[in-house]
Amino acid sequence: MDDIRAPDRASSISTGVRVWPSKRYAKMHRDSIEDPEAFWDQQARKLEWQKTWDHVLEWKEPYGRWFVGGKLNACHQCVDRHVHTWRRSKVAIYWEGENGETRVLSYSTLFREVNHFAHMLLSLGVTKGDRVALYLPMIPELPVAMLACARIGAVHTVIFSGFSAQAICGRIGDTRAKVIVTSDGGLRRGKIVPLKDIVDQALPACPSVENVIVVRRTGQAIHMREGRDHWLSKDMTGAHVFVEPVAVESSHPLYVLYTSGTTGKPKGIVHGTGGYMVFNYVAYQWVFDIREESVYWCTADVGWVTGHSQIVYAPLSHGAAVVLYEGAPDYPAVDRWWDIIEKYGVSIFYTSPTAIRMFMRHGEKWPARHDMSSLNLLGSVGEPINPEAWYWYFRHIGGERCPIVDTWWQTETGGIMISPTPGIDPLALKPGSATFPLPGVDVAVVDARGNELEAGETGYLIIRKPWPGMLLDVYEDPARYREAYWSRFPGSYYTGDFAMRDEDGYFWLLGRADEVLKVAGHRLGTAEIEDAAIAHPAVAEAGVTGRPDELKGETIVLFVTLKEGIPPSDALKKEIADLLRETIGPVAAPGEMYFVDSIPKTRSGKIMRRVLKAVASGKDIGDLTTLEDEASVEEVRNALARLGHTGAPPPADSSH
Ligand code: WT7
Repeated sequence: MDDIRAPDRASSISTGVRVWPSKRYAKMHRDSIEDPEAFWDQQARKLEWQKTWDHVLEWKEPYGRWFVGGKLNACHQCVDRHVHTWRRSKVAIYWEGENGETRVLSYSTLFREVNHFAHMLLSLGVTKGDRVALYLPMIPELPVAMLACARIGAVHTVIFSGFSAQAICGRIGDTRAKVIVTSDGGLRRGKIVPLKDIVDQALPACPSVENVIVVRRTGQAIHMREGRDHWLSKDMTGAHVFVEPVAVESSHPLYVLYTSGTTGKPKGIVHGTGGYMVFNYVAYQWVFDIREESVYWCTADVGWVTGHSQIVYAPLSHGAAVVLYEGAPDYPAVDRWWDIIEKYGVSIFYTSPTAIRMFMRHGEKWPARHDMSSLNLLGSVGEPINPEAWYWYFRHIGGERCPIVDTWWQTETGGIMISPTPGIDPLALKPGSATFPLPGVDVAVVDARGNELEAGETGYLIIRKPWPGMLLDVYEDPARYREAYWSRFPGSYYTGDFAMRDEDGYFWLLGRADEVLKVAGHRLGTAEIEDAAIAHPAVAEAGVTGRPDELKGETIVLFVTLKEGIPPSDALKKEIADLLRETIGPVAAPGEMYFVDSIPKTRSGKIMRRVLKAVASGKDIGDLTTLEDEASVEEVRNALARLGHTGAPPPADSSH
């Protein structure tokens, strides 16, 4: 972290003005691309290593191993490093419970709690390389448990606390986690979500789990099975244990995090330690211009990659003060978030376009009730931000003082890849553009054959060089790793996104190019939803597409054919929607569902998604008469007719 400087942001705001990237940024980026190893060698020295690396990068396509031979510990970077300095008394986490309860953890408190937790894991026989599942609400014990795993070299896999028992089973089945950590419950809109009960439902199908650690949060009665379930003792007497952080190899896995892809089963994205920590450390400085006095709040759930990198590993490795909020954004009232900003004097605020659009609907009177003059930088992540939402955010949250960093990245990239970098230099922003790649990041927009496109042309976003935050692998599925990311454009990483670079060199991220949906910023595979729907006994076939939505960016449109002789009904619709909620999670509930005679498929059985999309969005079907895979013009026409396509949704035979 740099020395304390007075924030001066005004110079970095010049929206809509045509300005090339600053000289300082341009030089840094050029140097980093010309000699990446020298560049990353320098950056990596900003962390504390127990052993320095022998090679900066070992690239055996498609595997990149960074800082080979080096040893370090991620928990040491985030905790121990600070307790040896004045930061021991600095706030690490301001926790705000949904019910108004608060806790403040200094770095030295965090140190104690992490050691205590690590000790408990060790006492349950968890050792280096073992997987530990974390199914916790947004309470301090979640980052504490992650750091405790990292401390002993165990690999955490965080399961979003909105997920169902079935989703827990899938992830635990895949990783064979030995221990799961949960709480009695979590609070959401004033109600208790019974997390331990959900874990109890999952456990009979999770034979790998030997022990369950339970954190007390909501206090209701739960079932504790003798010998298997253990309370995390809140009694910190005798907690002055010290657990030595294990210096792990740079590419030792830090965590596995599941995300949706183009097939039914979510992929376990594996991130390593050295490359991931270095990349996040420097990116956090460049993008958020973090300072000692900053109070930083990222509203994501720790269950997603944004929470992993931008709530835990990047900020804590800088010794930053982080706000952690447990509950719903609009509970008990629509100004809860603005109240939190005022209460803690938040200076850097990072959220999603969907949230901004939701608040925009409620009107500016809510933020106007609060003094948010502490803010000096805003961020956006997860989906493209439309200029209207951008301006509303800029005006009504940032008071026209704060630049907005629109950060593009993915679970797989580990850290931010394309974003303004006020920590390097002020930069003219263009609302809706994530601007330029970070130093060390080599991205390009290409056509289907991999040729770089001219300014203004839309194509596929690829990454041409390995970067330190890159995923190590797909958990125990190297074939899928190759196939998903490295097969389409040989030698380059395929992001699955559409993008365009304008004449000034600014990047515009235009949404997914593959069969992945982004609903309220959450990533869902169309195949994943279809697989879940056909598990319903009445369903013969299912086809999913996305439809643009003003609030959520995209909503799910589900087409279903029912088995012979089963009549469509609203009750059935509800059952199928409930099943999706159960199997995948509440975000998978379809916005619309239609019963149709058949799902349009090519001869090889591939769903003709463009046909579904055209029907769902009421688009003109003109361009659909070009052949899609093996489908003939005739087949496409027939399919459209069967869906009752008249040029406008919904199809004739379906009630919503
Ligand atoms: C996908 C990755 C890692 C951040 C949280 C989401 C979309 C992400 C932006 C942005 C336009 C964006 C892309 C990407 N996306 N940030 N600033 N502008 N689109 O992580 O769930 O792995 O999703 O989110 O489509 O591929 P994720």
